[in-house]
Amino acid sequence: MKADTNQDIIVFFDNRLVPLRDAKVGILTHAFNYGTGVFEGIRGYRDENQRELFLVRPQEHYERWKRNCSILRIDVRPKPSVLCRITSALVRRNQFHTNVYVRPLAYKSAERIGVSPDGASAFAITALPFGDYIDSRAGLHAGVSSWRRIADTAVPCRAKICGAYVNSALASDEARREGYDEAIFLTEDGHVAEGASCNIFLLRGERLITPAVSEGILEGITRASVIELAQRELHLDVVERRVDRSELYVSDEVFFTGTAVELAPIVRVDHRPVGSGKIGPVAAELRRLYLEAARGANPTYKKWLFPVYGPVAAGKAA
Ligand SMILES: Cc1ncc(COP(=O)(O)O)c(C=O)c1O
Repeated sequence: MKADTNQDIIVFFDNRLVPLRDAKVGILTHAFNYGTGVFEGIRGYRDENQRELFLVRPQEHYERWKRNCSILRIDVRPKPSVLCRITSALVRRNQFHTNVYVRPLAYKSAERIGVSPDGASAFAITALPFGDYIDSRAGLHAGVSSWRRIADTAVPCRAKICGAYVNSALASDEARREGYDEAIFLTEDGHVAEGASCNIFLLRGERLITPAVSEGILEGITRASVIELAQRELHLDVVERRVDRSELYVSDEVFFTGTAVELAPIVRVDHRPVGSGKIGPVAAELRRLYLEAARGANPTYKKWLFPVYGPVAAGKAA
């Protein structure tokens, strides 16, 4: 069946495949009232040459999801390998042959008043056709937000906890209203953390720098991929450490990474040009390498990919 509108899309909900229009939760659902859900974001890229759609690092996304669900004591029973199979079956069932975005969401499902959570939980997985999240071809203008990154001692940012994304929503709304493409968060003590929905890297000379995992960041899977590419392919020194705000102004290059933004070069921060004010060569090359790997065009990184259709089915579908 071809999914013509979003409502026709088939989703995984209540342990079965149902049309999106039937995947509903009640208004008293705990997660809806108190933000007690944990989500993920996974991309799939269609490669025309191989007539295949590759999910990018779904195993790692599902491992992170399950680990982070345990922070809220949400138990997602299936193993990551089973979740990968459910996801590829979902994409096949919808007959998607374009780039997709997959949104797993686990949540506290009790329908009652009262913030103290109980053991009731559920999860859903949705896959949608998806293009560019943000047009970064000319490079982005990012601005440091007046909103500080929420501290791990309040709501852990290393998990994609629904309620924590109010922090990102406020910062991204402010950034767009002020004419920036994306916000950069500082931690409460004034160090660079990350973007509202992405990690951040700085290049200073031959050294690539990114805030350490204890700096109020999500432990990004694209971040890990880009570190591997930078070290292995470009032989760059990669350092995870504290970053001052003013380092953003004196870096040669700055860029964001994330499943949705992919690798997005930043050409201006707070109205100051980054380096030459144009997309830098390292960001451009890492972006090329990342997208090549994500599309299955580099055999070294095929280990990151989960083919949805397989050779025979892909041939038939084409
Ligand atoms: C706050 C935040 N930081 C970083 C990222 C990037 O993480 P990943 O590369 O795993 O998608 C995301 C992704 O959604 C995010 O929401």
